[in-house]
Amino acid sequence: MRTKIAGIGHYVPDNVITNDYLAQYMDTSDEWIQERTGIKERRYATKHKESTTSMGAEAARIAMKNAGIKAEDIDFIIFATLSPDYYFPGCGVLLQRELGITSSEAGALDIRNQCSGFVYGLSVADQFIKTGMYKNILLVGAEMHSMGLDFSDEGRSVTVIFGDGAGAVVLQPTEKEDQGVLTTCLHSDGTHAEELAMINPGSHGGYHLGTEKYGYPDPDTPGGVFITQKMVDDNLLAPNMTGQLVFKTAVVKFPEVINEALQKTGLSKADIDIFVPHQANLRISQFVQRTLGLPDEKVVNNIQKYGNTTAASIPIALSEAWHDGRIKDGDLVCLAAFGSGFTWGSALIRW
Ligand code: UT7
Repeated sequence: MRTKIAGIGHYVPDNVITNDYLAQYMDTSDEWIQERTGIKERRYATKHKESTTSMGAEAARIAMKNAGIKAEDIDFIIFATLSPDYYFPGCGVLLQRELGITSSEAGALDIRNQCSGFVYGLSVADQFIKTGMYKNILLVGAEMHSMGLDFSDEGRSVTVIFGDGAGAVVLQPTEKEDQGVLTTCLHSDGTHAEELAMINPGSHGGYHLGTEKYGYPDPDTPGGVFITQKMVDDNLLAPNMTGQLVFKTAVVKFPEVINEALQKTGLSKADIDIFVPHQANLRISQFVQRTLGLPDEKVVNNIQKYGNTTAASIPIALSEAWHDGRIKDGDLVCLAAFGSGFTWGSALIRW
């Protein structure tokens, strides 16, 4: 038994944020952003009216309709995000409530693997389906980055890259030979965990990087301090990224993990019909495309319109490509991601 994508959908907010708009708040330019990242614009959700969960729900409704199932048919939810509505509980149960899945028969799992979240979620779902445990899994990747970015000059190298949105798939078993998820490959290496991270607020208490930097009280003070005044004063509550290290590692790991999947399945680069990379930076995707020797028509890039939407980027791009008629039955679809952790992974799917 294999796992097939039975339905797919995506949602991006209406609010278009251009590079020129960002240049009003920070020292950046349309020229710099396009040259270094390929991004022309991104979307931001509407504060108070939308959230990571609500966008995930919009995408999920389309995916369920597309699969011809109702919310109550879902027996398991997997939600991948790094920008959850709450610190806890995760978005999985919030999505369950939003979709009106009241049956406690369903389970909800939250995935914290950042840019690789969708590929990790797909792999987890694939194992559950193959063992016969679940029949209709809803996998969602959604992000509301705009709430957590630093709009000062200090945050510019991170802030200009990210955008909001959501994508979702319904996964079901298939008994058709040569259809569905052929393989998934997952990897991680925590050596550079802090090089692409949002460290605060958190329960580290200065464990990794020293208490002084974060203004923690002496250890004998009872109780923990989740967020300190120093974090607020010193602008330590935003994501940080060592861009060049991430870039250099990504262009090695992407081809490596794709080749691993091809080797496992006995397929070759030329067999790939559609390549959907995590939309990290257009330059990274172009580099990987050249390494694989794929023509433009086989590669899906939409970072120009939506920026980097982390866990949502692959399902949004996959959904857009499918709804545009770029993916046909029988196509070999290759997914690959790399990001914070570092974590990376790939998947090969026979559509
Ligand atoms: O999905 C998560 C994974 N993340 C990624 O894959 C990101 C990978 N990395 C990248 O995409 C690139 O490293 C960035 C786009 C983040 C940065 O591009 P870069 O070519 O590596 O630039 P850089 O960090 O080496 O900075 C070059 C210059 C610096 O100025 P100086 O020191 O040369 O004067 C930066 O301060 O560009 C400056 N800079 C900016 N200038 C205008 C950094 N951000 C900006 C900005 N606007 N937004």
